[in-house]
Amino acid sequence: MAARRILVAITGGIAAYKLPELVRQLVRAGHSVRCITTEAALHFVSPLVLQSLSGKPVRSRLFDPAEEDGIDHIALADWAELMIVAPATANVLARLSYGLADDLLSTVALATKAPLLVAPAMNVNMWNHAATRTNVERLRERGVHFVGPDSGELACGWQGEGRLSDPAVIAEAAEFALRTATLEGECVLVTAGRTREPLDLVRSLTNRSSGKMGFAIAAEAACRGAEVVLVSGPVSLPTPSGVRRIDIESAEEMRSAVLRELARSTVVVKAAAVADFRPVAPSKRKIKKETLAEGEGWTLELERTPDILAEISREKGDRVVVGFAAETEDVIAAATRKLARKGCDFIVANDVSHSDSGFDVDSNRVSFVWPAGEVETLPKLSKRAVAGEILDRIEKLRGGAA
Ligand code: CTP
Repeated sequence: MAARRILVAITGGIAAYKLPELVRQLVRAGHSVRCITTEAALHFVSPLVLQSLSGKPVRSRLFDPAEEDGIDHIALADWAELMIVAPATANVLARLSYGLADDLLSTVALATKAPLLVAPAMNVNMWNHAATRTNVERLRERGVHFVGPDSGELACGWQGEGRLSDPAVIAEAAEFALRTATLEGECVLVTAGRTREPLDLVRSLTNRSSGKMGFAIAAEAACRGAEVVLVSGPVSLPTPSGVRRIDIESAEEMRSAVLRELARSTVVVKAAAVADFRPVAPSKRKIKKETLAEGEGWTLELERTPDILAEISREKGDRVVVGFAAETEDVIAAATRKLARKGCDFIVANDVSHSDSGFDVDSNRVSFVWPAGEVETLPKLSKRAVAGEILDRIEKLRGGAA
């Protein structure tokens, strides 16, 4: 995503101590970040840390002559392309909802024309209180974006909803709030992760796919304004903002979910590592060793799973269909054969034998293999950047189809 100007406004909740990490992640993603705080926030987070990470002075007072000399509060409001308020306390939500302007944060929030992303954090009873619910509803109706709060153990000792979302999740929501509209009107169906084929009640056949590549594609497509459906195998990743997620286990369940969603999809990206074989007769109980003869091995009979990509490519129509090829040798030749066999628009080939690309890492080395034989090889990139490259090509193909 291109560099954007993000104003991070920090309020006085204990979770404010997590905010330097958010600033670090936003800066790392290439954004220009400025921080403002309420006076209470200064009890929980050091302005020097925020200044060091953002590279910009931190403001906390409305009419401080020295601070106003640096950048006045209206210029700050105009500078921002996105304003993030975190951790948003119940008090701040109330003040934002009523449009108060009696400190720096509330004044800038009222003056800015940038979208507002709010990450609440508070005691569970405060979050559930009718007054807070009304304030949240009112802000939502006004188009304010929310991320979290998460459930769990709270600093006050209570359990429940009220934890600040992880900085990575807030950063992701920020990208979504800043989305462009290059895929607006498109419905992108993405499959991700592994499938799990039961052997018996407690065992299964699966693979090492973490789902990171497919989730990155779904997140990036949502940031480009597409409606996104993510059919995911069992992985432990948070659902990206603006994405509808359908969880499945087996290849057969993935096939059913994909076929159900296919009619409305204009783009299908099959990033999932689908099991090619499944046990013919999975047991309804746990298979016990003593049912096998002493010293004897166990021979499993496997059958082919449906090839979902080949099936949907047969009824492609105007749709753009992209496949993946996870290979360990002769990557391009194998991907070229796969492309011919599956009949999709192009194949994203990756060598999963390296430790810095492929399964369960944040980076990838891929090549795009096209039907005419053209091969584009990209350098090692983050999975999010690879997702961007894939969607750039899909946008071109969709432009051609439209
Ligand atoms: N795929 C699918 N259904 C399957 C197997 C694979 O839709 N039953 C899709 C994957 O999502 C991927 C592409 O087909 O987009 C290639 O998957 P891959 O496992 O690399 O290839 P296979 O067809 O399984 O061939 P092989 O295992 O022999 O390499």
